[in-house]
Amino acid sequence: MTKLSLDKILQSQGFGTRKYCRGLVEDGEVSVNGEIIRSTKHSFETEGLQFRIFDEDWDYRAQVYIVLNKPANFECSRKPSHHPGVLTLLPEQFNWRDVQPVGRLDHDTTGMLLMSDDGPFIHAQSSPKRHVPKVYQATTAEPVTQELVELLLHGVKLHDEPAPLAAVHCQKLQENLIEIVLEQGKYHQVKRMLAAAGNHCAALQRTAIGKLTLESLGLEEGEWCYLSEQQLAMLVPA
Ligand code: URA
Repeated sequence: MTKLSLDKILQSQGFGTRKYCRGLVEDGEVSVNGEIIRSTKHSFETEGLQFRIFDEDWDYRAQVYIVLNKPANFECSRKPSHHPGVLTLLPEQFNWRDVQPVGRLDHDTTGMLLMSDDGPFIHAQSSPKRHVPKVYQATTAEPVTQELVELLLHGVKLHDEPAPLAAVHCQKLQENLIEIVLEQGKYHQVKRMLAAAGNHCAALQRTAIGKLTLESLGLEEGEWCYLSEQQLAMLVPA
């Protein structure tokens, strides 16, 4: 059980500095159970707490775990240079909370992007030791051949990589569409593997992480949602 004053709660949820949050409470911007709370003396149990601020309902969350259906032309970097950052697609409270992408997708890659402010979760989820399968669908410039599928499964040698990299699973979906499952997340890995195998990636989408699929989430491009405990468990290999 953790009991905190409302200004501390607001600060922890990304609404600003302690001083600013105290001001929000004193100005009557925050209510709990339908009652405006103007005092920061009272403490609230954080677990299961719901509050209303700026006419919006919020649930207290000790950590945030979300998934974004990333559109093209957004960068995963915290200091984007050529395109807006993915954080601009989320409520600004998440920026204050230091929510970060779990790994990176290229600016032109679309699909599933996990984001969190839980450092150990980010670290564990991105670690190659964990063997979390990530599923990609790549549109190819040249038709997908059986030889391409076999090369990717067998492993291709990439510049700067000591050993060949292989897909853990790979299948042709359409004439110019291939599904590639990887357990690593090397720089431009899918694009470089396709190039090394003699084809070219024209478009790339991440469609699943672990057992959690983009389709099951029903998110339009640019939309995001919180992950439930059950969905979080699906990210881990069985
Ligand atoms: N592989 C790539 O080449 N790009 C991505 O964004 C993800 C995997």
